[in-house]
Amino acid sequence: SRDRSWEGDAPMSLEEVAAGVHHCRRCDLWRDATQGVPGEGPDRARLMIVGEQPGDQEDQAGRPFVGPAGQLFDRAAAQAGLPRERVWVTNAVKHFKHELRGKRRIHQTPNAGEVTACRWWLDAERRLIRPRVVLALGATAATAVFGKATPIGANRGRALQLPDQSQGLVTWHPSFLLRVPDERARDKAFGELVEDLRLAWKLAG
Ligand code: URA
Repeated sequence: SRDRSWEGDAPMSLEEVAAGVHHCRRCDLWRDATQGVPGEGPDRARLMIVGEQPGDQEDQAGRPFVGPAGQLFDRAAAQAGLPRERVWVTNAVKHFKHELRGKRRIHQTPNAGEVTACRWWLDAERRLIRPRVVLALGATAATAVFGKATPIGANRGRALQLPDQSQGLVTWHPSFLLRVPDERARDKAFGELVEDLRLAWKLAG
């Protein structure tokens, strides 16, 4: 492709972000991914929710949170009274990082360099949408949103001020919940995710 928008001036519209993400070469993750997955939602959304990176199904569909983690997210959002179609849903990293094990593509956590490279797009989304509230799901998103490590357990459940005057919150990533082996611990964390979604939606009010 001759589209070089990914390396040029900061994007001026969400359409430019979507096109730029697709052709982005700021790190190497594009090589093994099907496509870049930009955020989606209303351009005036008051709440932005940030995940880690697309998973296997998101990579194929080109949309965020449509696989197993997305289904759990949708269930938690429904319980919290949060209408997903009114929220900007995106990821800290826009390409699927994985390794092949046989025919299966196994998720790999993006490294600090990849998260930093992809902040170009996340920061553009924040600047263009100007959400009142940004909710980070999991540690990778929390680092991307706050610009420093922000442990979930110690920081969830309350709003933290962000430098651009929006309010930041962190909560558990749905994929983390899917991996909690103990059922009671899993139910507790799911309840906390619901609480945090409810709080974020209320603050975005
Ligand atoms: N996990 C994420 O963090 N984001 C997605 O879009 C899907 C799974």
